[in-house]
Amino acid sequence: MFPPPRSRARFYGRSTNYTSVAKEALLRTIESGDDDVTRLEGELAAIIGVRHAVAMPQARVGIYLTLRALTRTKKKVILSPYTIHDVINMVICAGATPVFADIDRKTCNIDTREVEQLIDSDTAAVMVTHLHGLACDIEGVAKVCRARGVPLLEDTSQSFGARVNGKRLGSFGTAGIFSFGMAKNLNCLYGGAVVTDDEKLAAELRHEIATYPLMDSSMLLKRAAFCLTGDVLTWPPIFGVSTYWAFRYGYLHGVEALNKRVRGEDAPQIKTEIPATYLRRMTPMQARLLIPQLAEVDRLSEIRAGYAKLYDDGLSDIPEIITPPLRRDGSHIYLNYAIQVEDRHALVRFLMQHGRDLTVQHMGNNADYECYSAWKRDCPNARLTATQVVLLPTYPGYGVAEVQRNVELIQTYFRVHHQRTEPARAAHDAQRSVSVAGVNPAPSRSGN
Ligand SMILES: Cc1ncc(COP(=O)(O)O)c(C=O)c1O
Repeated sequence: MFPPPRSRARFYGRSTNYTSVAKEALLRTIESGDDDVTRLEGELAAIIGVRHAVAMPQARVGIYLTLRALTRTKKKVILSPYTIHDVINMVICAGATPVFADIDRKTCNIDTREVEQLIDSDTAAVMVTHLHGLACDIEGVAKVCRARGVPLLEDTSQSFGARVNGKRLGSFGTAGIFSFGMAKNLNCLYGGAVVTDDEKLAAELRHEIATYPLMDSSMLLKRAAFCLTGDVLTWPPIFGVSTYWAFRYGYLHGVEALNKRVRGEDAPQIKTEIPATYLRRMTPMQARLLIPQLAEVDRLSEIRAGYAKLYDDGLSDIPEIITPPLRRDGSHIYLNYAIQVEDRHALVRFLMQHGRDLTVQHMGNNADYECYSAWKRDCPNARLTATQVVLLPTYPGYGVAEVQRNVELIQTYFRVHHQRTEPARAAHDAQRSVSVAGVNPAPSRSGN
């Protein structure tokens, strides 16, 4: 038998958050103190190094409002198809036309050469995503956008705090968008922000947001109760004796009722109108939850980057795995360590059987979904990536021993199940040398 593992994920934020939420609910102060939202906006702008930050109820609303402002005359928005499907919905709700650009396999982010090819005279904006805490080639894309006079948006929902050459992600283009939802490295239950140097855009966003009602206290309390339950169930002493075994059983025996509880994305559904329930304002209580977390962000990113190094040391030489780039310069903050393997379910099954708790990335390739068929575009890298990503945990409390155990078992899996063949080794070496030269490795494997 094996010792029980740590959970695949834990919520960020302090455990005292729940006491604060409960206290504020009892004292009915959730809505009091608009100054705290203003203070949060000031601190965000200062950290990111831009003039303005506008708090949002969720990142997706920031995307919607920013795109609505930028797509009044031109309509096309070039973006990665490998993201949550509601991001595509926000483009459509803003009245714009999504144009899917394929991705780079290593970073899972938009490919600069695709952007360059797709920009035309009707392009209103390019929106990049920095997925899994990995910066896209932001300097390259920004250069292309500048040369063509096209506004650039950064969906930095999964990468708060990352810097490229000392400059924070979110500050490279016209606007940066952040998420402070429960699964992000800053968590105020729901929340987001748009940052920008553009005075006019900031004023327009502020003006619009001011017309929305505050986020409902009952919605926030429900979310806090959900996070608290999650925290208790993934607390090691409880997780090891009960939760893990239930989830493991669910995965190994295909029990959908259990599996759907841990799935991030559900089946995509198109939205053509922004739901009225999205149009809310961040409450002062949420700002109060967030402000203390800002001071911790860089320290926690360092811990994750340390785990990424251990994963890289153990896994980057295995020819059957595509690993993310190893960067210790702060540009990659590794919200997860996302590896890609051909038969990911076989790997996760093996790992679960051997006492690990891991999951696949449930995000799909939006360019292939039926509901977005009006904007279909062939994106072979995104198609393959969407079937191959396995998320290895990196949250700060996970621990070096847990990372090492994952590495050892993945090494064992590939030693035992996939006898290394010379062709696989040769293909791997060729791929490495091509990617070192700055060119994307060609997709060479079929998905599952
Ligand atoms: C890449 C990406 N973009 C946007 C969002 C939307 O964030 P929010 O839930 O704050 O709207 C998410 C949330 O998971 C995300 O992962």
